[in-house]
Amino acid sequence: MSKPVLEGRVAVVTGAGQGIGKAIAERYAAEGAKVAVVDIDGVRAKEVADAITESGGTAIGVACDVSDRAAVDAAAAEVVAELGTITVLVSNAGVTRPAMLWKMTDDQWDAVMSTHLNGSLYWLQAVTPGMREARKGWIIFTTSAAGINGTIGQINYAVAKSGILAMMRSAARELAPSGIVVNAVAPAAATPMTETIRTDERFKDKYLESIPMGRWAEPQEIAGSYVFFASDDAAYVTGQTLSVDGGRVMMR
Ligand SMILES: NC(=O)c1ccc[n+]([C@@H]2O[C@H](COP(=O)([O-])OP(=O)(O)OC[C@H]3O[C@@H](n4cnc5c(N)ncnc54)[C@H](O)[C@@H]3O)[C@@H](O)[C@H]2O)c1
Repeated sequence: MSKPVLEGRVAVVTGAGQGIGKAIAERYAAEGAKVAVVDIDGVRAKEVADAITESGGTAIGVACDVSDRAAVDAAAAEVVAELGTITVLVSNAGVTRPAMLWKMTDDQWDAVMSTHLNGSLYWLQAVTPGMREARKGWIIFTTSAAGINGTIGQINYAVAKSGILAMMRSAARELAPSGIVVNAVAPAAATPMTETIRTDERFKDKYLESIPMGRWAEPQEIAGSYVFFASDDAAYVTGQTLSVDGGRVMMR
């Protein structure tokens, strides 16, 4: 019988207290990885990690605000001490602060930039020394159709997600000689982040019509793509973006 595809990996999943990150953390553990469940909400991070442990997996919950470099460095050191060298990074933590561009405040702009861009960069920088030394690593960023096509009412989010694509491609180029692959997933799923767009009468039918599959995905349906990008099968795949969105990205 073949061994679990992520056996021997130590994975950090940021924003894993709920939604897509939680589904990734659960699936990674089921595939044999040791998982650090990282979230700004330390209580939820611990609950997710405890549930994984109770199901027979290996996980720790780590409270960390990804937009705080010192907190990221401390969290990374904690993960290495508890689980070993980090070989998989999933940068997934995210927030939205929607407003039309003529109403957007500096606080709304800064909250989205610091979480998505600074948070992704800080974790990227925290894990690369260990990965370069190990001469292996799998890094997966989380972007969005908004970062590919632009969007309405979230210019901050679109810019941040587009910046993440540039970060992903630049890191892929810099890290390829060290045997580290860097890719991105552009997901769409029914999570707390998408609650308004799924339930508000102003948006819900129009949005659903824009999805060729005609339905929202469960977060668990997104996780498999992150497994692929963290697996040996992705050892020769780098700098790529996979949209897991029911085909929506091709419609725009
Ligand atoms: N759900 C979708 O349809 C969709 C679409 C495109 C992209 N995405 C992206 O996927 C990722 C996950 O989204 P989701 O829908 O699961 O969102 P979610 O809101 O359900 O979960 C996000 C998690 O990130 C955590 N978080 C927020 N700020 C943080 C910080 N500063 N430090 C650490 N953790 C923090 C939250 O506490 C939460 O647990 C995000 O990057 C999001 O932008 C989601």
